[in-house]
Amino acid sequence: MAPRLTIAVIMGGMSHEHDVSVNSGTGVLANLLPERYLGVRVVIGKDGLWTVGDAPARPMLEALSALAPTMDVAFLALHGPNGEDGTMQGLFHLLGIPFTGSDHFASSLAMNKPRTKDVYRAAGLSTPDSVSVRREQVEHGVGDLPATIIARLGLPVVAKTTKLGSSVGVEIVKDEARLSQVLVEFMSLGNEVLVEQFVRGREVTSPVIDHPDQDRTVALPLIEIRPKVSAWFDYEAKYKIGGSEEICPAPIPDDLTYKCQQIGLQAHRALGCSGMSRTDILIREDGTCFAIETNTIPGFTKTSLLPQAAAAAGISYPQLVDLLIREAVSRKEKRLRWEARP
Ligand SMILES: Nc1ncnc2c1ncn2[C@@H]1O[C@H](COP(=O)(O)OP(=O)(O)O)[C@@H](O)[C@H]1O
Ligand SMILES: [Mg+2]
Repeated sequence: MAPRLTIAVIMGGMSHEHDVSVNSGTGVLANLLPERYLGVRVVIGKDGLWTVGDAPARPMLEALSALAPTMDVAFLALHGPNGEDGTMQGLFHLLGIPFTGSDHFASSLAMNKPRTKDVYRAAGLSTPDSVSVRREQVEHGVGDLPATIIARLGLPVVAKTTKLGSSVGVEIVKDEARLSQVLVEFMSLGNEVLVEQFVRGREVTSPVIDHPDQDRTVALPLIEIRPKVSAWFDYEAKYKIGGSEEICPAPIPDDLTYKCQQIGLQAHRALGCSGMSRTDILIREDGTCFAIETNTIPGFTKTSLLPQAAAAAGISYPQLVDLLIREAVSRKEKRLRWEARP
């Protein structure tokens, strides 16, 4: 029997998504196939210290110098900045340790919503019309910028910070006065604010995985996300209280399902994602589908959207964890073979 691989499941982190990440990581640890894998729990505290198994919390370099020689694969169950944004991926890349999910470049690209939209547009994918405002444009007052934006995009608009996820730093803006405030307030969360046209319609998310056995990217069933109350301003309540219903497979016509699954696959490829991704899509009342963002480390508890979609496709949670680990290992092997070419 092949020796078991040691999988360091890395969770927590200093981002505002610390707790969600610990739930994701705990789920992964509990579902590692015992005949193949030995799991090590690695929790990055909100203070940045690393706790490996039962050892006391230590600075990252100390923890890693003990951990790195003993681990085979890093399962990155981190969300948000310093986890999903390419920094952790770059660290494990340099250490030569395979890690689950996208590489540093695709991760940081997907974390930045304006740049992601540039890539969507270059790949021919529809994304809501938008204006990206840089810090220096508002440093000395917003001037007539809000009015110019509203003249182009109408009202409401959706303002987004460039970096944070999970609806933190996303706001539906209903008038010019609030847009003026948001353009300044959101600059504290990044150097750019994205202002998007509001799309009225339904929302689905399109998860895909790179299947190591089939050597191809597979679109999983779509999930529809429905706010519990349908008036548009209730979307806002949805972010704040998480009050939404998730239906998988999404009950939408076959042609729209196909279209949205293709968007998921194309976004994954265009951004250069690996392992898994989940693209959020808005379907306007006339059937036009708009990609709004791609998550490279989506929530990973058993009831999160990607595991739910995998389950609907007949892939159990332990199988999904196993697929992602094997994909990470085979990607590293492929890279080494490529680099060793004469
Ligand atoms: N242009 C838009 N029009 C209408 N609703 C939007 C738009 N952009 C985002 N939303 C709503 O806001 C939510 C969060 O936006 P998203 O870009 O996915 O950011 P994140 O998930 O990182 O917080 C979406 O799931 C959707 O419900
Ligand atoms: Mg989203």
